[in-house]
Amino acid sequence: MNFKLPILAPSILAADKAQLGTQVQAVLDGGAQWIHCDIMDGHFVPNISFGPNVVASVSQISNEAFIDVHLMIENPDQYIESFCDAGADLISVHLEACIHLHRTIQLIRSHGAMTGVVINPSTPISAIEPMLTEVDLALLMSVNPGFGGQQFIPATLKKVEQLVALREKHELSFLIEIDGGVNSKNIVHIAQAGVDVLVAGNAVFSAENITNKVTELQSRLSNFKSK
Ligand code: DX5
Ligand code: ZN
Repeated sequence: MNFKLPILAPSILAADKAQLGTQVQAVLDGGAQWIHCDIMDGHFVPNISFGPNVVASVSQISNEAFIDVHLMIENPDQYIESFCDAGADLISVHLEACIHLHRTIQLIRSHGAMTGVVINPSTPISAIEPMLTEVDLALLMSVNPGFGGQQFIPATLKKVEQLVALREKHELSFLIEIDGGVNSKNIVHIAQAGVDVLVAGNAVFSAENITNKVTELQSRLSNFKSK
């Protein structure tokens, strides 16, 4: 995977579903390469979003787009195959939703997708430390999962620092992704903490001009100087 880091990953949870194709194209026109798909089942989180059929439609818009699927569902093992068949390039699962997380990560990889582990704001980094050698990405929730448009939780940056230190100490290469409450004001500060992939939903899709907003956020990311 040869993306120029850090990466902006617009979340289509915030898109107008009546114009999803047009809005995803607008995001791609703005230079975004990742599309973040938030899958919610109304059980693991108190909201229901969309399923593999929507992911399939999105992945058919462009074969360049990297489809980053975030499963906020119970029993994710049951759905790994259908999201891979729908075109997921990476599937992230919540530690808190998996009884046998190591086996779930193996299952995702066996279907040819890259693997991610996600933790909620109250879950410590120590809980996923044994998995950091097994995954391609670690996703830190910077809001409580289930809804877009929430405030960024600043304490998440401490967890980013811990992950960066562990990655260096053990010479690992997993990506660090942040998800929730990212906007024009905090995006550079978050990237400076060492985040590789930044999810943005409302900041992108509530903008007057989606393409220009993506271009603006991307240029903030490409011009920032790490600390
Ligand atoms: C929340 C989702 C996030 C959310 C981000 O459960 O995982 O991806 O859609 O939306 P914003 O950027 O609006 O906080
Ligand atoms: Zn998400």
